[in-house]
Amino acid sequence: MNSEFPALKNDLLLRAARGEVTSRAPVWIMRQAGRYLPEFRKVRENHEFFEICRNPSLATEITVQPIQRYTGLIDASIIFSDILVIPQALGMEVLMNPGPHFPEPLVTPEDIKKLKQVVDVNVELKYVFEAITKTRLELNGEVPLIGFCGAPWTLFAYMIEGGGSKTFQKAKTWIFKYPEESKALLMRIANVCVDFLVGQVKAGAQMLQVFDSWAGELSPHDFQLFSFPTLRHISQEVRKHLIEEKITPVPMTLFAKGANHAIAFLAEQSGYNVLGLDWCVDPTEARRLVGTKVALQGNMDPNVLYAGKPAIESAVKRMCEGFRSAKGGWIANLGHGITPGVDPEDVRWFFECVHKYSA
Ligand code: CP3
Repeated sequence: MNSEFPALKNDLLLRAARGEVTSRAPVWIMRQAGRYLPEFRKVRENHEFFEICRNPSLATEITVQPIQRYTGLIDASIIFSDILVIPQALGMEVLMNPGPHFPEPLVTPEDIKKLKQVVDVNVELKYVFEAITKTRLELNGEVPLIGFCGAPWTLFAYMIEGGGSKTFQKAKTWIFKYPEESKALLMRIANVCVDFLVGQVKAGAQMLQVFDSWAGELSPHDFQLFSFPTLRHISQEVRKHLIEEKITPVPMTLFAKGANHAIAFLAEQSGYNVLGLDWCVDPTEARRLVGTKVALQGNMDPNVLYAGKPAIESAVKRMCEGFRSAKGGWIANLGHGITPGVDPEDVRWFFECVHKYSA
């Protein structure tokens, strides 16, 4: 499979993910192809969000936008898509206006019947695989391509809340009132995640990231009960399936936002190579907690990007000193996705500062 693609010219990301201390930190940012880029907004003027996700040519065009703009400064691409393509593959309608909206969310466990019993990712999510293969060719080996999916708990929360939420009252009512039905649904989602991630590697993804954006909404006890088993299932099964199909497993990142109580445990038990961190944990402390068990990724507060070049420089310098204070792989990133309104030239400065201070 891999030999069909152009040779990789920049493997900093993959080396850091495997725990190597690299000559400088590889850097990319979550949501790097997004609304802060005028070239992204231009494409969005004429196309709906999910229309772009489903069109491999448009998805490829957008994925490479930041790579072209920041040539030589950015060390990874991430396929343009969304975590909510899995609920769509399960048969749910999802709109983006401007945030995610499910016209018919799951209300009671009875509604689970409405979901597709069997999801063939090669049919339902074929468009993502096509976009990945097309992007790999388009990238011409300049940087590795990351594939991704949402974590079961985060997807479950969207499917029940019907969109974003401040309290997660509905999703939490499910886990507390119907724990067994909830666990069964979470594992069903996890199995779709496994097939989807394996398919992305077959299509050309060179690394994988699982986004558990709402992990921090759960107590440590409930994270252990409702999220962690699915996260570990995904890392184990993806690796197992790839080996069975004689494909070399790729490094995997877990971004369990807000689950900083679990960092040491996740490093030991989750089966991921990299832990993504938000900004609420100190880099030196995170490194102390994980030792050299896993590589780390993160974690500047994305809002620093609104504060001008001197503020960005001092935050990046501090982040670099923290993550470089002890042995272990580190991938520089933000602590969450970049938001609209950031000046793309300030993003360039962020990359330049990482190059300078992580060397
Ligand atoms: O990182 C990348 O550049 C790759 C593409 C990517 C998108 N969404 C594109 C996107 C990735 C990796 C995601 C993941 C995603 N999607 C997450 C996990 C990461 C996180 O932010 O916590 C979540 C929770 C979603 C669900 C989602 N998609 C929300 C809540 C929203 C609306 C709010 C927002 O931040 O924009 C989206 C829309 C979305 N996904 C946009 C982009 C570029 C903007 C939508 C637009 O163009 O109108």
